[in-house]
Amino acid sequence: MMPGSPLVRRRSNTGGNTPTRLGRGTWSLAGMVHGVSRPRSQLVIKVLLAATLTALCMFILRQYDSAGTIDKFSVKDDVTHVLVTGGAGYIGSHATLRLLKDGYRVTIVDNLSRGNMGAVQVLQGLFPEPGRLQFLYVDLGDSKAINEVFSKNAIDVVMHFAAVAYVGESTAEPLRYYHNITSNTLGLVEAMVRHRVHKLIYSSTCATYGEPDVMPIKESTPQVPINPYGKAKKMAEDIILDYVKSNDQLAVMILRYFNVIGSDSKGRLGEAPRPELRAHGRISGACFDAAMGVIPELKVQGTDYNTEDGTCVRDYIHVTDLVDAHVKALNAAKPGKPGIYNVATGKGVSVKQFVEACKAATGVNVTVKYMDRRPGDYAEVYSDPTKIKNELNWTARHTDLTKTLRVAWKWRKAHPKGYTAVNYLNS
Ligand SMILES: NC(=O)c1ccc[n+]([C@@H]2O[C@H](COP(=O)([O-])OP(=O)(O)OC[C@H]3O[C@@H](n4cnc5c(N)ncnc54)[C@H](O)[C@@H]3O)[C@@H](O)[C@H]2O)c1
Repeated sequence: MMPGSPLVRRRSNTGGNTPTRLGRGTWSLAGMVHGVSRPRSQLVIKVLLAATLTALCMFILRQYDSAGTIDKFSVKDDVTHVLVTGGAGYIGSHATLRLLKDGYRVTIVDNLSRGNMGAVQVLQGLFPEPGRLQFLYVDLGDSKAINEVFSKNAIDVVMHFAAVAYVGESTAEPLRYYHNITSNTLGLVEAMVRHRVHKLIYSSTCATYGEPDVMPIKESTPQVPINPYGKAKKMAEDIILDYVKSNDQLAVMILRYFNVIGSDSKGRLGEAPRPELRAHGRISGACFDAAMGVIPELKVQGTDYNTEDGTCVRDYIHVTDLVDAHVKALNAAKPGKPGIYNVATGKGVSVKQFVEACKAATGVNVTVKYMDRRPGDYAEVYSDPTKIKNELNWTARHTDLTKTLRVAWKWRKAHPKGYTAVNYLNS
């Protein structure tokens, strides 16, 4: 116990028969002791008093770490404390870097099913001061553990990135996707409500739109998802939005990302999906794998789409710009007025164009194998970014594809086996 702590002061108030000036809340119990004479009642009061003091003691002890210094994660102060779910993953780790750089306090919650502890170690090395960053190994499906996270930490905002996130995998394992995305989001929102945390920034996706007839996609475009990944994310959106309708205390921003690429411009973080996920992988990873010689060729699936060069068209958003949109969303979030925004450049790029940019960035004449279409792929997807520009003053700035891929390639070359095989802090 720290000298002069509230508990010590309150203990001194319990002795003696002279009426003492009562403090706030629990101290009204001490006053009851003076007014009751029957022994049984006195026993009950003593038990109640002991229980109250024990609870108070535990509450105070929780605010100190093992070294006896105050645990900044558990107390409210003037620093905004953001809970980043999935912070060991690609986008979550980049978001954490930006939040820490901007002076926020961050608690990462991740079960490391997909993310990398190496990314967390990089962040811990960059921000080692007490009270800046903590990592909690927690599965979002474990509601007891999640509630404990909220009861032990003074969280102000949640950025919910954690999810399994591969369209192809979702078709093969739909139940996993509904559980991991929809039901975990429900559990997280319930825990937020229980612990009175009133701000949520949610990672959604353009996959919730399905394959709209009209391009570009606006936020008002009907959402008709065509795979379990998109459906699970849409259901999670609906849960959040329905809750806001019933309780206007929650401030929510739903960000629908398009295809995220790139990495930290200083080369501290990168994208390092697990090797076993390669088959489901995204185009930049596959292209780098081919350039590294990890796979013999880059497979391009579908050359007969109704697009300019026959390959699929996507809208590629740089992770740094995406993270910037999160910070802007966090600052603009208002209770009872949910914001929904597409986060993208507004410009479509074909797979063939992407491959050319990748060849230029890596300097490797990657072998490309053109194949039949993959089930579940849409021909063309790009966004109209007007709403987010007008309302959040956000615009994509890193739109030079070759430059973006050059930076990402540099990280990948320096980390051929992902985060695990390097000395993170000196790389
Ligand atoms: N990468 C993209 O192009 C893209 C596009 C649109 C939307 N998104 C969304 O962005 C978010 C982040 O994606 P990412 O590309 O960084 O993926 P990622 O796989 O790199 O990161 C996801 C993180 O969540 C963690 N996680 C998964 N399930 C968990 C659970 N039950 N409990 C705790 N942690 C868990 C993983 O371990 C991982 O660290 C996801 O919600 C995804 O749907 C991504």
